[in-house]
Amino acid sequence: MDKIKIIGGERLRGTIKVSGAKNSAVALIPAAILAESPVTIEGLPDISDVRILGSLIEEIGGAFSFDGKEAVIDPTDMVSMPLPNGKVKKLRASYYLMGAMLGRFKKAVVGLPGGCHLGPRPIDQHIKGFEALGATVTNEQGAIYLRAEELRGARIFLDVVSVGATINIMLAAVRAKGRTIIENAAKEPEIIDVATLLSNMGAKIKGAGTDVIRIDGVEKLSGCRHAIIPDRIEAGTYMIAAAATGGEVIVDNVIPQHVESLTAKLREMGVRVETGEDQILVAGTEVLKAVDVKTLVYPGFPTDLQQPFTALLTKANGTSVVTDTIYSARFKHIDELRRMNANVKVEGRSAIVTGPVKLQGAKVKASDLRAGAALVIAGMMAEGMTEITGVEHIDRGYSGLVEKLSDIGAVIWREKMTDEEVEQVKNA
Ligand code: EPU
Repeated sequence: MDKIKIIGGERLRGTIKVSGAKNSAVALIPAAILAESPVTIEGLPDISDVRILGSLIEEIGGAFSFDGKEAVIDPTDMVSMPLPNGKVKKLRASYYLMGAMLGRFKKAVVGLPGGCHLGPRPIDQHIKGFEALGATVTNEQGAIYLRAEELRGARIFLDVVSVGATINIMLAAVRAKGRTIIENAAKEPEIIDVATLLSNMGAKIKGAGTDVIRIDGVEKLSGCRHAIIPDRIEAGTYMIAAAATGGEVIVDNVIPQHVESLTAKLREMGVRVETGEDQILVAGTEVLKAVDVKTLVYPGFPTDLQQPFTALLTKANGTSVVTDTIYSARFKHIDELRRMNANVKVEGRSAIVTGPVKLQGAKVKASDLRAGAALVIAGMMAEGMTEITGVEHIDRGYSGLVEKLSDIGAVIWREKMTDEEVEQVKNA
């Protein structure tokens, strides 16, 4: 196990390149199961979620080769093997194996997914969708069993706008007989990316990116080559890091429209943000204004940037209220920020941040992926040394974070934890 160490106080300067989108990658890989020949995905991020999904593909007889950038997934010899627990528990997105295997084999056994603990994360809308398509779904000893004689298109109205349910239903519906209509669908860019791959494989999908998606099932899907979209959350994290360190950073390989809600908030705080075609320049200022933020479904402010943004707000003048309407308990980073001298309290679904304070380096623990990103940003803002454990969470979703930040001036490095430290963290 590693820890990350940071000596704060350096302004970030230079160009930082964003990798492919994690939340697309984890759906694109399972989507390849639906093809009958190899699928190549360009620009995949080199993160542990991708490598775990790759080994799950191998567990069910597929071939997965990945050079850190491009993956080839050969689904030709795949079979519907049960994937009850084990690696499935390591990531949330293993739920996409349900939709993809159901679509291809009409049956699947997949353990209930793991991933970050952000409060309750039910999958009832995924199951409602599978059932509407004709599957019988049961939960036996922590695994979901899905089986269908045949999948039939259906009209499905999502009670909750869900990225995962929208994609999962799409995965199964592309191989159903007839038309499926998903109403109240999520509109995140990752949904368009998955629909683009499926369409290139031969699926008939209209309306991805709007709240009504129409899918006409097809008999056969074939392999193709697909280039993944850039990671808007990674881009947003680095934009926040630039503002937090008062630096001047060009974030490269970004679709500016995907981060508009963040751009608007940063400008409201007094940060200079200039957008180009696929680059964004962020220049921080000494005096930042406090702002209120409410996380919403896309194109609203993303919940995945709430935690990093809270770290930035500790430096703003006045009181900011951050409300997470998507995840009620995504506030595990707050206790750690407090250890670093932040003046933050949690009331219900909101964090109330009073600033400005000068953060102080401390030993802190990343409890989940974006909490980790928040602590890295806080560490770069702080006086002295910050030591972050729980780095495996960061490795799930940020490709080369330490190298990328150190290339633009952060004093940040990884160290192996001693056995004693590993024990201490486990018992904490
Ligand atoms: N929800 C339900 N029932 C469902 C599904 C979702 O009640 O069947 C609720 C959730 O509890 C949550 C809301 O609906 O309150 C939205 O959840 P959604 O299904 O959209 O989330 P997800 O698909 O499980 C993805 C990302 C998350 C990101 C959310 C919201 C992946 C693998 N994960 O999760 O990313 O926070 O959408 O945008 O795509 C992250 O990257 O750090 C991360 C957690």
